[in-house]
Amino acid sequence: MVELESLVRENIRKLKPYTSARDEFSGTASIFLDANENAFGTPLEKSAFHRYPDPYQQKLKEKISDWLAIPADHIFLGNGSDEAIDLILRVFGQPGQDEVLIMPPTYGMYQVSAQINDLQVVEVPLTPSFKLDRQAIEKVISDKLKIAFVCSPNNPTGNVFASEEIVWLLEHFKGIVIVDEAYIDFAPQKSVLPLIKQYNHLIVLRTFSKAWGSAGIRLGMAFANPQIIAWLNKIKMPYNVSELTQQTALSLLENIEEKEKRVRQILEQREWLTEALLQLPMVQKVFPSDANFLLVRFDHADATYRYLMERGIIVRNRSNQIHCQNCLRITVGTEEENRKLVEELRRMR
Ligand SMILES: Cc1ncc(COP(=O)(O)O)c(C=O)c1O
Repeated sequence: MVELESLVRENIRKLKPYTSARDEFSGTASIFLDANENAFGTPLEKSAFHRYPDPYQQKLKEKISDWLAIPADHIFLGNGSDEAIDLILRVFGQPGQDEVLIMPPTYGMYQVSAQINDLQVVEVPLTPSFKLDRQAIEKVISDKLKIAFVCSPNNPTGNVFASEEIVWLLEHFKGIVIVDEAYIDFAPQKSVLPLIKQYNHLIVLRTFSKAWGSAGIRLGMAFANPQIIAWLNKIKMPYNVSELTQQTALSLLENIEEKEKRVRQILEQREWLTEALLQLPMVQKVFPSDANFLLVRFDHADATYRYLMERGIIVRNRSNQIHCQNCLRITVGTEEENRKLVEELRRMR
C-alpha cells in the first residue's frame, strides 16, 4: 500500500475547508432559514430548485454504489470528469515543482489541466502499436513525478489497455495512477474498477457523457480509496453537482437497460462504419476501436477534413498528434449520419 498522505500537497493537508450550511446541518427539519435561499420558490411552474443541492450527493452515490458494487465512500462526483481531473491535480501536484506523466496521443485535458496547475508535463508517447512504453516510463519515474494518466480506451486511438499493463504501472509507479475509463462501456474488456480495493493509489474515472448519452448534465465519477475521496471532497466547490443533474442522474440509473441498448446500437454502427470506410479508396487504415469513435488514416486528412466541413459534417482532425499522421477521429453517429458521411466521402475526388 502506498503511503498516500505523503503524496498530498502540504497546504491541502493543512487546509481548513469551507463549511456550507448543508455541511453544518444535514438532518431533517421543518424550517430551513440557514442558507439564504429563497423560500418563495422558483419562478417556474412545477420546478422546485430554490434549495441548494446535497453537497455530497448521498442518494445518487448510493444508487451508483448499487449499480457498480462499489461502496459509496469510494465515490466522488463532479461537474464532468474534467472537474475530477483538475481536483486530483490540485490535491497531489505541488505547482512549480511536481510532474505529471501523460502518454500521447491522448485526451488533451490532462496536459491543459496540468499546465493550468503549473505542473510540469512529462510525455512518454505510446508505442506505435499504442501500448505503454514500459522502458521509457521506468526512466521518468522520480520523486517529483506525482501523477500518471492512462486513458483506457484511449482517446483518440480507441484501444483499451490490457489490465496487465495497468497492473504493471501500478506496481512500478507509486504516485497516483489515474485510469480514465470514459469509453469503457464500448470495450469488450472489463473495467479495472475492482483494482481500487488492491491499489490505494489508483483512481478510476468514468462519466455520464458517453455511453449514458448525457454530456449535457455534466456528471463525472471518480472511484478510489476513501482517503483520496475525502481529499477531493475537501477542496471541491461546495455545491459542485446541481440539483437538476442529481435528479436526472437518479432517473438515468433507473434505465440501465436503455443505456445498454444504445451501446449495442453504437457498436453495430461502429462495425458498419468500419466496413464502409474500408471500401473507400482514400482510406488507408481504420484502427480497431474499443470506443464510440474510429481513428481513420486517410490519404489526405486535412483536405478530407475541409471537404466534410464544407458539407456540414464535422469530425476531429488529429493529424498533428504523434502516431496520428493523416488521421481523423470520427465519432460513430446514428445510422443516418453515418450513411451521409460515407456518401459524401464516396463523392470526394
Ligand atoms: C478520455 C476522456 N475523458 C474525459 C472526457 C470528459 O468527460 P466529461 O464530459 O465527463 O468531463 C472526455 C471527453 O471527450 C474524454 O475523451
